[in-house]
Amino acid sequence: VAPIKVVVTGASGKMSRETLAALTRDPAFDPAGAVSRATREEYLSLPNGAGLIPYSSDLGAMLTRVRPDVMVDFTNAGVALDYARTAFAHGVRPVIGTSALDDRQVAEIRSLAEQHRLGAIIAPNFALGAVLMQLMARTAARYYDHAEVIEFHHDGKKDSPSGTAVATARLMREARGRDFTRPESEREAVAGARAANHGGIGLHSVRLPGLVAHQEVIFGGPGETLTIRHDSIDRVSFMPGVLLAVRAVRNLDHLVVGLESILLEGAS
Ligand SMILES: NC(=O)c1ccc[n+]([C@@H]2O[C@H](COP(=O)([O-])OP(=O)(O)OC[C@H]3O[C@@H](n4cnc5c(N)ncnc54)[C@H](OP(=O)(O)O)[C@@H]3O)[C@@H](O)[C@H]2O)c1
Repeated sequence: VAPIKVVVTGASGKMSRETLAALTRDPAFDPAGAVSRATREEYLSLPNGAGLIPYSSDLGAMLTRVRPDVMVDFTNAGVALDYARTAFAHGVRPVIGTSALDDRQVAEIRSLAEQHRLGAIIAPNFALGAVLMQLMARTAARYYDHAEVIEFHHDGKKDSPSGTAVATARLMREARGRDFTRPESEREAVAGARAANHGGIGLHSVRLPGLVAHQEVIFGGPGETLTIRHDSIDRVSFMPGVLLAVRAVRNLDHLVVGLESILLEGAS
């Protein structure tokens, strides 16, 4: 079977470099090209001396040149939609890990996928444990009236709260069918001390050097709390999910948001 050809965007970024390394390690994949905003180089050297691949600042030209099956995007919400438009126009399926896409951007990607009858995946978190954390939080949400989510990320993260925290809160509210109860402070000595409010769920964002990606979901009830915690201690934790999505997207003809449905399908 021919390896799956993949072009990676944002190639100078941390997640894109990790993705190129993961694609290089597995012979089922062919890291066929890389795109980086400002590069003037024509070739990029793969990790571990695995060779050179075509490199460009022009995604359209790259897709025409290498004709990949899939584009993996870990960039920035400002450019991910443009990159996805270019991918669809070239018949290439996007796997998007970029976080903080808004509803309008997701809706456009959904309609482009339908229009082109091409699969696409948007996954705010590719770590297996993070997906399981969300599923567990969804289950617990039906039994508690009070909940808070604390997410912890490295100090280079541009957006807050994290896409995973927002997706978790959304799943928890959907499972309950109503908002959580949020005790407000009578006096807030420092503005923002009670965190953002997502349907009664307090969303807290911690940013510190040394962290990668972590999240706690804490439920409170009479005389008890339940804490569900997940830690990505290395970016390599996202790679099995990325490779799973790259495989799965080839068999789709529409947009799937979140890795959970793909994971659960694989498990059944
Ligand atoms: N889904 C998940 O599991 C997961 C996990 C971790 C992170 N993320 C998300 O993935 C994204 C990237 O994270 P990261 O840690 O790799 O960030 P990063 O190291 O800052 O890399 C992002 C790269 O995107 C490109 N980029 C940024 N802004 C751009 C712009 N305005 N125009 C064009 N390209 C731009 C740049 O690459 P070039 O200059 O080479 O083009 C940059 O190096 C973020 O949204 C983050 O939240 C998702």
